[in-house]
Amino acid sequence: MQGAPIGVFDSGVGGLSVFREVRRALPGEDLLYVADSGHAPYGDRPSSFIARRAEAIAEFFVSEGAKAIVVACNTATAVAIQTLRSRFRIAIVAIEPAVKPAARLTRSGIIGILATSQTLASDRLSRLVQEHGGRIRVLMQPCPGLAEQVEKAELEGADTEALVARYVSPLVERGADTIVLGCTHYPFLEAAIRKAAGPHVAVVDPSLAVARELHRRLKDGGLLSARHDSGTEHFWTSGDPGQVRRVVGLLWGKEVAIRALPPKFAA
Ligand code: DGL
Repeated sequence: MQGAPIGVFDSGVGGLSVFREVRRALPGEDLLYVADSGHAPYGDRPSSFIARRAEAIAEFFVSEGAKAIVVACNTATAVAIQTLRSRFRIAIVAIEPAVKPAARLTRSGIIGILATSQTLASDRLSRLVQEHGGRIRVLMQPCPGLAEQVEKAELEGADTEALVARYVSPLVERGADTIVLGCTHYPFLEAAIRKAAGPHVAVVDPSLAVARELHRRLKDGGLLSARHDSGTEHFWTSGDPGQVRRVVGLLWGKEVAIRALPPKFAA
């Protein structure tokens, strides 16, 4: 299993913010990435639909011989992580909003979470807030349309900045001094988010923590790759490979080949 690849997935290209940290933390591992762009955004889809997609993608990774799966999508974690963990026996590491680090960081006692409606409405997030947010105020801000700007690679410009300001400004006005990026698309908008939030607001992104957790799980399980040369990267999408190729090229900073996800796993 040590030489087996690691599968990383998201509703689209947002999960590349996690993928790049995984690549940095584990340079010798072979990585697979699935952008489920044919079904993005997940944010306003029913939970049962998102859970079905997460299971289909996990099955695909298992069919590719993966030794671990990284759920690089907060929305999929929020609604499907229990299903995935009960069905698949390989290591599964999942991102979720960084409430605990934000609760430690805040001085005003108010944090804001930017995420999809599904993530914010989930029992999982309520439990996380109850557990770590007891002494602070947590403001939840759904951000319809924001992940789509990243899918279109519109990371800057007037439209993106206006949309970001519409979601960030109310949090700052209500006293938040710490903002959690609760969707893996948003780190690609960090410049616009920081601009809207101003210099006194901390922005928290848990991608690095996910990569570290993956490293720890592989190490503890004796699953770290023994190779010394660089690992490979392979990409698939359920959407339009040409469009995804263009955006991945921009966000990942390298030209890559994008394959169509086999129909069995794409529908
Ligand atoms: N990137 C996904 C997340 O972390 C969600 C974007 C979407 O598909 O709505 O929640």
